[in-house]
Amino acid sequence: MSRVIYLHPEDQPVAAPVLAPGQAVHDTRGRPLRDLRISVTDRCNFRCTYCMPREVFGADHAFLPHSALLSFEEITRVAEAALSQGVRKIRLTGGEPLLRKQIETLVAMLAQLRTPDGQAPELTLTTNGTLLARKAQALADAGLSRVTVSLDALDDTLFERMSDSGVPVATILAGIEAAARAGLAPVKVNMVVRRGMNDAQILPMARHFRGTGHVLRFIEYMDVGNSNGWRMDEVVTGAEIVRLIGAEFPLQPIQAHYHGEVARRWAYADGGGEIGLITSVSQPFCGSCTRLRLSPEGRLFTCLFAEQGYDLRALLRSGVGAQALKDRLAGVWLARGDRYSELRGQAHRDHKIEMSYIGG
Ligand code: GTP
Ligand code: 5AD
Ligand code: SF4
Ligand code: SF4
Repeated sequence: MSRVIYLHPEDQPVAAPVLAPGQAVHDTRGRPLRDLRISVTDRCNFRCTYCMPREVFGADHAFLPHSALLSFEEITRVAEAALSQGVRKIRLTGGEPLLRKQIETLVAMLAQLRTPDGQAPELTLTTNGTLLARKAQALADAGLSRVTVSLDALDDTLFERMSDSGVPVATILAGIEAAARAGLAPVKVNMVVRRGMNDAQILPMARHFRGTGHVLRFIEYMDVGNSNGWRMDEVVTGAEIVRLIGAEFPLQPIQAHYHGEVARRWAYADGGGEIGLITSVSQPFCGSCTRLRLSPEGRLFTCLFAEQGYDLRALLRSGVGAQALKDRLAGVWLARGDRYSELRGQAHRDHKIEMSYIGG
């Protein structure tokens, strides 16, 4: 007897499994659904050369019209369905999420949600920091737990070149301090390292953030999207970075906070705090990847390197109830088998989604 296996979740409606509180739906590789990353806009006020190079994202680039974006109410319905399927952490991203008007209203709506066992989800946001000094207090008041700020250099000339903006580093540093004062702590600072571009900033960044309570994380430059002309020799590995910083400040590895944590943690031996290494190229972490991504106009992506997503917006706007949304989410996750970073060299892809569209 032959059995038909439906690989595409839209071909065959799936009923969301009934889960005990605290449990999660698992994908084909046994990975639970734990994180939902919501991109609220595809726009950004920076043009980082590795993410939105101006030649590609110039004045004539067509960004999504406002009517195409999910409303805050629609996003909240998706988040609620995701929590019912195991999600515990929600991250808002972009583009630049603070460009979305009244983002604090969305934060307040998401902060009301609870997991099936009654816990408030961890609610975080990744930003380039330009508007953070202005917004930090309102975000904290709305119920945001923490923020992560991207910062690739301390040197103004280099920073302006990398972000292709006229924004001075002092603006971002002021944003980081405002976030810490508002209680959005520990603030994590993400630095993407690109050899020959900003690798000389690794030590100055480490010296600057040591002892501040902020956690600096170094990210291996990845081949996301189709626009950055990525080359392997531009990747500075986490191991190289640990060696470099460790020669000046002895480091010791410390335990992950939780299973599936993306960053490998190292502490300064003298108690000056910790750094993180995100080694998605040299030591991929697909085996513990629990992240589902929602695009600004309501498509679900099961991998940062996916070429295709699953539309939820039509379903959201068709008037269906909460159960249909849960079923669709569960169906997408149950069928998931992604592990791009582990396959990298063997998995050639020409049409990956852009990181500015789906978030980091
Ligand atoms: P926290 O532990 O809550 O602070 O979040 P996180 O460690 O997930 O970190 P964050 O969202 O700041 O991600 C940091 C960077 O890691 C991103 O900007 C990406 O470059 C990379 N990254 C995050 N998630 C993934 C993923 O699923 N796959 C790959 N390949 N890279 C990822
Ligand atoms: N490689 C690694 N990280 C990237 N980000 C954007 N593009 C890349 C890339 N090519 C990160 C940014 C930011 C987050 C939104 O995504 O540094 O921290
Ligand atoms: Fe904007 Fe972040 Fe992309 Fe830079 S990396 S262009 S700040 S979305
Ligand atoms: Fe997850 Fe895809 Fe990143 Fe692997 S490459 S960790 S599957 S998002």
